[in-house]
Amino acid sequence: MDLRVDLIFIVCLATVLGAQNEVSSFQSLPNPPKANVSQCSLVKDNDRLDCIPRGNVTQDICESRGCCWSESSSGIPACFYQPKSLSYKFKNITETSDGLVAYLERSYKSPYPRDVALIKLIATYQSDDILRFKVIDPTKKRYESIFPEKKLPSPATKNPSYKLIIGKDLQGFRVVRKSDNTTIFDASDLTNFIFSDQFIQITTKLPSTYLYGLGEHKERFKLQSKWTTYTLYSRDTSPLFNTNLYGSHPFYLSMENSTKAHGIFLKNSNAMDIIIQPTPALTFRTIGGILDFFIFLGPSPSEVIKQYQQVIGKPKMPPHWSLGFHLSKFGLKDLNTTKKYIERNLNAGIPVQSIWNDLDYMNNSNDFTYDKKKFNGLPQFVDKLHKEGRKYVILFDPGVSSGEPNGTYPPYDKGVELDIFVKNSTGQILVAQVWNPVSTAYPDFTNPKSHDYWKLMMKSFHDVVPFDGAWLDMNEPSNFLKGSMYGCPESELEDPPYLPRVLEGSLSKKTICMTAKQYAGLQYNLHNLYGISETNVTSNVVSEILGERSLVITRSTFPGSGQYGGHWSGDIGSNWEDLSYSIPQLLDFSLFGIPLMGADICGFFGSATEPLCNRWMQLGAFYPFSRNHNSVGMKEQDPASMGDRVIRSSRKALEIRYTLLPYLYTLFWEAHKNGTTVARPLLVEFPEDRNTYDIDTAFLWGSGLLIVPILEENAISVNAYLPKGIWYDYYTRQPLNSSGEFMDIYADNETIPLFIRGGQVLPTQFYRATTEEVRKADLKIVAALDQNGRAEGLLYWDDGISVDVGRNYTQISFLVEDGDIEINVINNRAEHPPKIFSVEILGIRNFNESNLSSGNLDYVYKKQSQSLLLQNLNIDLTQSTSIKWS
Ligand code: NOJ
Repeated sequence: MDLRVDLIFIVCLATVLGAQNEVSSFQSLPNPPKANVSQCSLVKDNDRLDCIPRGNVTQDICESRGCCWSESSSGIPACFYQPKSLSYKFKNITETSDGLVAYLERSYKSPYPRDVALIKLIATYQSDDILRFKVIDPTKKRYESIFPEKKLPSPATKNPSYKLIIGKDLQGFRVVRKSDNTTIFDASDLTNFIFSDQFIQITTKLPSTYLYGLGEHKERFKLQSKWTTYTLYSRDTSPLFNTNLYGSHPFYLSMENSTKAHGIFLKNSNAMDIIIQPTPALTFRTIGGILDFFIFLGPSPSEVIKQYQQVIGKPKMPPHWSLGFHLSKFGLKDLNTTKKYIERNLNAGIPVQSIWNDLDYMNNSNDFTYDKKKFNGLPQFVDKLHKEGRKYVILFDPGVSSGEPNGTYPPYDKGVELDIFVKNSTGQILVAQVWNPVSTAYPDFTNPKSHDYWKLMMKSFHDVVPFDGAWLDMNEPSNFLKGSMYGCPESELEDPPYLPRVLEGSLSKKTICMTAKQYAGLQYNLHNLYGISETNVTSNVVSEILGERSLVITRSTFPGSGQYGGHWSGDIGSNWEDLSYSIPQLLDFSLFGIPLMGADICGFFGSATEPLCNRWMQLGAFYPFSRNHNSVGMKEQDPASMGDRVIRSSRKALEIRYTLLPYLYTLFWEAHKNGTTVARPLLVEFPEDRNTYDIDTAFLWGSGLLIVPILEENAISVNAYLPKGIWYDYYTRQPLNSSGEFMDIYADNETIPLFIRGGQVLPTQFYRATTEEVRKADLKIVAALDQNGRAEGLLYWDDGISVDVGRNYTQISFLVEDGDIEINVINNRAEHPPKIFSVEILGIRNFNESNLSSGNLDYVYKKQSQSLLLQNLNIDLTQSTSIKWS
């Protein structure tokens, strides 16, 4: 066996401690020794590890915990751990066929009840670039997150890019990248390491402060490291700073000083705080479950993201139509209002692909009903939309009404019959209240029977109102009461020894009791998984009903949610700040493997002004999930209501979106197949360019299109960063040669700056007003040459709806080199794209007509923009071909 571990200290005990050991895991331990003052004085302010992270911080309490005390200025803990305080000591370390197993024993009491005195660390060399390590209680099965569900392949390493250093000289362990000796995970001394029943904490020193991820938060893309706490606990709230939001993603990407990258994922679904301090160091502090870490060695950020998705699952392929523009509003109070809303936009030339109804369509806010008076004629309206090539998406709340008279509301009656609802601590259906007039019960989506239940409900409703997609709201799960109708029982689950910094200081605030029970266990453990379990079931159910790929958009997410649906960033404000924050939120979800993402265009709360909505419609046309939605009672903000300028801006940007649909769809397929990103942070594409590490006001689509929105009021120019290379202005086709510079780019009020990257081929189609029509329109291939006259690209094509993605499809590669474009059909099965009508080549400095491969080619060469347009080509994409122009 190759030596993948530096086993500095291996004591092979004849009998393995742990399972055979009769000693209870919660045995009594000695009190901690007093801190040594001279040791304490050696700790630099930035390196202090907080010993009293919450509650009353006094010198007495501090010293009783065996910690160091020294007054401090704001943010820096006054009570901190003495270095190398030997929280746990190794008992033995044993190498296994695919990793190692170590046992550690706690030396003294932690401040939290029920320390696990003996813990087991299991390291698995999952692949050459993925190391997994788990820390568990060997004597007692503890809860382990049931998501992501993906089954990992058996460990297989040939030449691991990392080594695990563990043993005697170290109190703990380190994970090191072999090629450059960078420590990726540094728990060398387990000074503040605690593994107790409801408080588990581990700190890693970091190789740099360039960290990204740890969502869901309102935050710039690059995370802060100034004693910043990121709390992960799914919560229904308008995005605010320093607050836990709708989803929980314990994953970060780190850019190292060498420009290499790595990632860390903690598979744990309990509420947690993650603290980044200036050392730099990062502390994971969770209140349950186990530690189950995956370490991704990269070494590029795109490889980290792919490796992460090997563990959590790659994103679902969205239906083609879902990449069109969607129009929505809470407060479309009846069918007439809904009709007018879409019609005035269609009349204004806005290519609305689908209209969404919020809960307004429901009867008394009850799922699977519609208001037959106000929405009289809804089924016929949906049929008409379908005839026009448009779609209809509706909102579902997870909770169903439990307050209807017996026998009148099947979603509740059937749920009772199937015993499908979440229970309270004493085993009755937990009754709370969301939008329903009287009360609400919550389907338990961890129950295997929930699939049949949900399908029955959705199918019977779909038989009446043939909706095309499901919009899943309020699935944190939200509750307008605290806990339940009857509050929550007193319990350490409701009131744990350590409370993460959750909004409003309570776990059950705006959600259901922690003592509630689901099929898979306690709500305390499963809270963060409610959204993903609902999205998983809904994604399958809607596909089965439609016989097609489903569109599901969910508010609450968890690692792996991308396999089942997309996400929107919730109830943001109609203001310039939230316009700007929508980009980091979008890019976070690219890291999280949820590429189908967008914010409510023009904002949800508040009244969008015309200049704001004008710029937001321009940016929103480039959200992978593009939907204008706002709240009830707010000023209307659909493009048509905003006046001529917004209409013109929206049309212009959305026409470009629809033209680029083949490119966008291909990016989604690559994400689905390989775990790449669609809306791509610049640092993912240009990791060696440090200037990109702070950029979150611009982003790319794939490798080929740079989007630089205007995010400030009254601005008509933007200081854009163009990484090294040639960039072609989308509108004028003029090349800009950048050595990696910031440039002031002019953008009139109706234009969003866009650049095509030299070296890329973008497949496009001629504009039509629905995605269905675009699919029939001819293709136009745009090849933007780099400094060597080269470019390449891909086109993926299928029927846009098949569930069985990658079965019947055509794949074409484009390669431009030496004045020639090769169009190669790599895969050619059943579904063929339309013909290529034209090829446009950008960046041809000298053009000589006599070099064209065929004498009768119809062409236009523009000397000024150095672009050549070959048209009337009518290339049939069933076989490979090439065209030469020099
Ligand atoms: C909250 C959602 O975030 C929002 O988009 C929706 O309009 C309202 N709930 C009403 O359903």
